[in-house]
Amino acid sequence: MRAAIFEEHGGPDVVQVRDDVPTPEPGPGEVRLRVGASGMNHLDLWVRRGLPIETVMPHIGGSDIAGTVDEVGEGVTEWSPGARVVVNPSLWCGQCEWCLAGQEPLCVDYRILGEHTQGGFAEHVVVPAQNLYSIPDHVGFEAAAAAPLVYLTAWRGLITRARLKQGESVLVTGASGGVATAAVQIAKRLGARVYAVTSADWVERVYDLGADVVYDRTDSDYGKEVWQATGKRGVDVVFDSVGEATFRQNVRALARAGRLVVYGATTGPKGEVDIRLVFWKQLEILGTTMSNQVEFREVMDRVFRGELEPVVDVVWPLDRAAEAHARLEAGEAFGTIVLVP
Ligand SMILES: NC(=O)c1ccc[n+]([C@@H]2O[C@H](COP(=O)([O-])OP(=O)(O)OC[C@H]3O[C@@H](n4cnc5c(N)ncnc54)[C@H](OP(=O)(O)O)[C@@H]3O)[C@@H](O)[C@H]2O)c1
Ligand SMILES: [Zn+2]
Repeated sequence: MRAAIFEEHGGPDVVQVRDDVPTPEPGPGEVRLRVGASGMNHLDLWVRRGLPIETVMPHIGGSDIAGTVDEVGEGVTEWSPGARVVVNPSLWCGQCEWCLAGQEPLCVDYRILGEHTQGGFAEHVVVPAQNLYSIPDHVGFEAAAAAPLVYLTAWRGLITRARLKQGESVLVTGASGGVATAAVQIAKRLGARVYAVTSADWVERVYDLGADVVYDRTDSDYGKEVWQATGKRGVDVVFDSVGEATFRQNVRALARAGRLVVYGATTGPKGEVDIRLVFWKQLEILGTTMSNQVEFREVMDRVFRGELEPVVDVVWPLDRAAEAHARLEAGEAFGTIVLVP
């Protein structure tokens, strides 16, 4: 089959499209899909560069997948060839205390499709049958494939973890990013007041997404500006994955009883915090990763109903996979890049 693979870690140029990749066969409890579209995430960049996990080479990236069931493995009775589906990118054991409590992203054997396993930048992919969710006929593969990872992360972070409510205020950093664009939409539709930080080129697009106030990070000390704009109160929630570069300003931008949600560390893993601010303002620093099945289905239903609209940057043929890596890495994408085999 045709697939975008890499055989060694490195820059975007290690990614190549080949026609001679073996087509995978579904095992017990698994399903093979004919991929309709696959979304690219920052995670694909980390995996390509090399993470402290062992990557089986050659590797096929792509955690966000929509397509058609092509063949079912032994014991799979709930799906048949021809079904149009989207895939929950989480992989979990189903047996540990966290899985039994419905907290799959805390699974002791938690993994992500396309990171720890072969992903969707290919004509075919094999996934566990339990990860599939039906796509209604009116929803295209491209929109469906742009949604899962970014919306489920934003949903769990803002709604489950930070308990964001209508009328509260939230600051979203790195607002042109895949997860951040989803977060701006979710927060706005919930009825929160949305402050956002982005780079100069994207300010207007972030306003178009529904943000109330947008700061250009290249031209402002947004921590200070949010503080002024809220009458020295601060915001209820900050939603961040920029990491080291923004940690200090994020804590400064929080109101009393504020919640800082961290879901990534793009610029580095170390953040310095004034502990006195944490106890005096009674702040919460909350980590979040991916979602459980309930949250995945909740966001996909909202996408299917048109309440959330995946932000698709470009839809490119799989042949342009290396170029797509370079585009995302250079900060040239707004939302999710989608590849079609
Ligand atoms: N925990 C989880 O479950 C989870 C899930 C998804 C993603 N993540 C992580 O979260 C991060 C974002 O993922 P994504 O797929 O949304 O990424 P993305 O689409 O590549 O967006 C990242 C955004 O971060 C901002 N940024 C980058 N460098 C920056 C800098 N030096 N200073 C300030 N802002 C900077 C940019 O936004 P602006 O130009 O608009 O400022 C960029 O668009 C990644 O590190 C990813 O691994 C974690
Ligand atoms: Zn488990």
